[in-house]
Amino acid sequence: MHGLRRLEYRGYDSAGLAIADGGELVLRREVGKLNNLEEGLKRAPLTGNVGIGHTRWATHGRPTAFNAHPHTDCSGQIVVVHNGIIENYLDLKRELSDAGHRFESDTDTEVLAHLVESLYAGDLFAAVLAAYRRIEGTFATVFMHRDEPGKVVGLRHGAPLVAGLGSEEHFLASDVTAILDYTRQVVYLDDGEVVVVSKEGVRVFDHEGLPKVKEVHRIDWNPAAAEKAGYEHFMLKEIFEQPSSLTNTLGGRLDEREGRVFLGDLGLSEAELRSIDRIVIVACGTAYYAGLVGKYMIERLSRLPVEVDFASEFRYRDPVITDRTLAIAISQSGETADTLAALRECRRLGAKTLGIINAIGSTMSREVDGVLSLQSGPEISVASTKAYTSMVAALLLLATHLGQVREELADAVVAGLINDMKRLPGLVKQTLETADEVQALAETFALSQHFLFLGRGINFPTAMEGALKLKEISYIHAEAYAAGEMKHGPIALINEAMPVLALATRSSTYDKVISNLQEAKSRKGAARGTVIAIATEGDRAITAHVDRVIYVPGCSELVSPVINVVPLQLLAYYTARILGKDIDQPRNLAKSVTVE
Ligand code: F6R
Repeated sequence: MHGLRRLEYRGYDSAGLAIADGGELVLRREVGKLNNLEEGLKRAPLTGNVGIGHTRWATHGRPTAFNAHPHTDCSGQIVVVHNGIIENYLDLKRELSDAGHRFESDTDTEVLAHLVESLYAGDLFAAVLAAYRRIEGTFATVFMHRDEPGKVVGLRHGAPLVAGLGSEEHFLASDVTAILDYTRQVVYLDDGEVVVVSKEGVRVFDHEGLPKVKEVHRIDWNPAAAEKAGYEHFMLKEIFEQPSSLTNTLGGRLDEREGRVFLGDLGLSEAELRSIDRIVIVACGTAYYAGLVGKYMIERLSRLPVEVDFASEFRYRDPVITDRTLAIAISQSGETADTLAALRECRRLGAKTLGIINAIGSTMSREVDGVLSLQSGPEISVASTKAYTSMVAALLLLATHLGQVREELADAVVAGLINDMKRLPGLVKQTLETADEVQALAETFALSQHFLFLGRGINFPTAMEGALKLKEISYIHAEAYAAGEMKHGPIALINEAMPVLALATRSSTYDKVISNLQEAKSRKGAARGTVIAIATEGDRAITAHVDRVIYVPGCSELVSPVINVVPLQLLAYYTARILGKDIDQPRNLAKSVTVE
């Protein structure tokens, strides 16, 4: 239960466990938060020393006790928990049903239990290995069999799984934080590996069943630093966590095979999504900028008009809301007073409501009709980084879903979007390799009094987010402008004391951005080496127009805000560090602004 609690950020709409108890596998599953499961266990305790557990956030099938994990085969001899998505589950379900298997849930997970049942001949490890050859998708999954009570078999394919080596006890978990209180010796599994945990220890095999020797990592963090994972600041840790936080946001929701996204927790039917005629997004600060990116995505993919408002302004302008409006509140904390108030106002006026929220169990998540949970894990640093990229990714999921439900998107376009989203965590990882160059940039410009960020189109909000990050943790005055607006006034500011950073990656507005940069560069100050570009890998031509370039990997325009913001986060971080500021807790700010 303690381990599950550490994983609750991944999902909390239902939970369950199975324990090998006196020759039987005993199952407990409850809808709602872990407390419900815990209360049940207090009333009727279980005994046993081998078990598996899971906390769920619905994708396939509603949050009910039947859909909660663990799932079982027909005989109740096999139990399974699973994170991720089994893309060919419908084919497998059909095949297994035809062979006489009876299904009790709407989940993709349940096919795993029946598939392993159909392949079982007295050896759980062999059956899991054989099942692995039949399943497609992204998953980490763990099995037990009644007749092999001292054994747990796990499988990793695209979703995290880590083994913990204790003294007289061993563990498997989807995040090391779940087991750190019991052991510091861990083995990180790689994709395609099968792990058998038993009294004898932890044994790892490749996908053909051949034993592998794995490195045992010792985690030396003390409990406080455990959360910092060895990084100097939470902010840096959270920036570097983005490949995995994005995997958590996107992972189980993309079905390449079926060519669709799964937003099981949306709480709004397809008919309801078809009936809306307008979207209003309310949010504050960084979440507001994510909303602005979302506007581009939703309008482009679903053709629904989208308005984005500062939540603090929204209520006071007598907004036009009808019962055909979908109001979306975006919030990391789910507690921001202004956003909550704007949301309540939308509800009062008859709108359907959706929350794009990170914090589990927050007030906002309890007040909306549906939640698209970010699942990016706790964000400790006051300056938001990983929650922002997860918000943008979640908005792309939503925009794709809306476009599909409203029949605005051809299948090939959806397939392309799914592919872009699948590649995103890897591209962010590559982008993080710019850290040293960005640090050098920060060293050049840390003493600037001002900073100007320019962007266009879907990356104009990226410029705003970059300026906000720099302001809030380094206290340097920074402003963002739509590059095309410069000549209407702000260009007058340009001089040698004003570094200009432009988002100039390949996009539909690339040529326009370049001419805007030429305008800036023809001004005196810019010629002295103050124009910096974030550009696409391979774009050598840009060096003729700017003084410094940070290259980021090429990607489609719709996902580019997630990639492009990464060097801006790093720039803010390194600048603040050089200036000796209190990075994780900047002056005058709080993580959760619960006052109006
Ligand atoms: C910026 C930042 C704030 C928050 C804003 C909204 O780094 O952290 O601007 O984004 O206060 O907070 P949430 O998302 O919790 O509603």
